[in-house]
Amino acid sequence: MELTECIAARKSVREFKRKPVEKEKLQQIVRAALFAPTGMHLYESLHLSVLASHEAVDRFSALVREQTGDARADPAHGAGALIIVSGKRPELPVEYANAACMIENMLLAATDLKLGSLYVHGAINSMRGSEQETAFRALLNLPAEFTPLGSVAIGYCTDDFRPRKQPKNAETGINFIY
Ligand SMILES: Cc1cc2nc3c(=O)[nH]c(=O)nc-3n(C[C@H](O)[C@H](O)[C@H](O)COP(=O)(O)O)c2cc1C
Repeated sequence: MELTECIAARKSVREFKRKPVEKEKLQQIVRAALFAPTGMHLYESLHLSVLASHEAVDRFSALVREQTGDARADPAHGAGALIIVSGKRPELPVEYANAACMIENMLLAATDLKLGSLYVHGAINSMRGSEQETAFRALLNLPAEFTPLGSVAIGYCTDDFRPRKQPKNAETGINFIY
């Protein structure tokens, strides 16, 4: 897909098919994250965990249901994969900015592969300090110095990936200064 078309075709998908995402496609998407800009080149400050099957994503969703007490919570909406971006410096805004740059690259790479995608932030951050945090970290096999910051859900969907004619956002103010 041409870049401007891909940007316009990306949208949040909240209904995924129960169809696994091929490992090669996940590898392509993860690779896109590595091309993201990163503050002060602190690449070693970031870590990616790939829940690469429906079963692994389901384990995450079960933890979220336990944590929220909401038996219907489904933060990944049945996606076939969830890629979690973690950082060593969660107290610094730049770490979230770094994670977001990686996530946007992965959202676009998924769109280019005609896979649905969703930025999943809330459920990841609500794990921090919760009773389920240890189990969550164990599920990710996450090295101790990293804190999960955000994630992207990826999977097959019924979307046709036609570029939107107009952005959903018609509200953000823009002014040009010369
Ligand atoms: C930083 C950030 C956090 C988000 N967190 C969530 C989330 O936790 N759950 C969710 O369903 N969508 C989440 N979204 C998706 C937004 O709701 C979505 O991007 C927005 O409504 C615009 O719609 P679009 O992505 O289809 O253009 C998040 C998006 C961003 C950029």
